[in-house]
Amino acid sequence: MAILTEKTTEFISNSTEQTRRIAMRLGALITPGMLICLSGDLGSGKTTFVQGLSIGWGSSDAVSSPTFILINQYQKLDGHVLYHLDAYRIANSFEAEELDLVDMYEHGILVIEWAERIKEVLPKDALWVECEYVSEDKRRFVFKPDGERYETMMDVFRKRSFGGH
Ligand SMILES: Nc1ncnc2c1ncn2[C@@H]1O[C@H](COP(=O)(O)OP(=O)(O)OP(=O)(O)O)[C@@H](O)[C@H]1O
Ligand SMILES: [Mg+2]
Repeated sequence: MAILTEKTTEFISNSTEQTRRIAMRLGALITPGMLICLSGDLGSGKTTFVQGLSIGWGSSDAVSSPTFILINQYQKLDGHVLYHLDAYRIANSFEAEELDLVDMYEHGILVIEWAERIKEVLPKDALWVECEYVSEDKRRFVFKPDGERYETMMDVFRKRSFGGH
């Protein structure tokens, strides 16, 4: 792990499992009302990341790519919901607005793959995770929190990562 700037954190993952573990650690810190935006190309590890995120958050529902159904929902025993949106097939911002995303990130947690495609309709405050394909088993993840809530979460995440928990 490297701290690139005061706010930006980079992880290099060398396996699918390592990506899930990194995301699990973040998942343990997410709370209702949060928005996590994943950007990056095909196969950069976004869905794999969401798998770890959901487990760390506490759901045992299976995570799969919502490419064809657009939005998946995962639940926790306490009734909270994590919404998993794939924006790949959303044609434009008008279509995105019709999805009532506000309701999802106000009441639950919203995680969006290909979030860069619908950036105009998203609030400024969010945790952006840039996912990048480096080589067959290697991926790069750059975490960029925007807003106090997400910056605080990343501070905790960095401390836990350094501490090896
Ligand atoms: N270090 C790694 N981290 C994540 N995935 C990896 C890694 N090494 C290999 N892989 C493989 O790369 C693939 C990543 O696929 P994944 O569906 O997570 O990507 P994606 O970004 O969601 O793609 P898409 O844009 O099609 O939705 C998986 O088959 C995974 O096993
Ligand atoms: Mg995907």
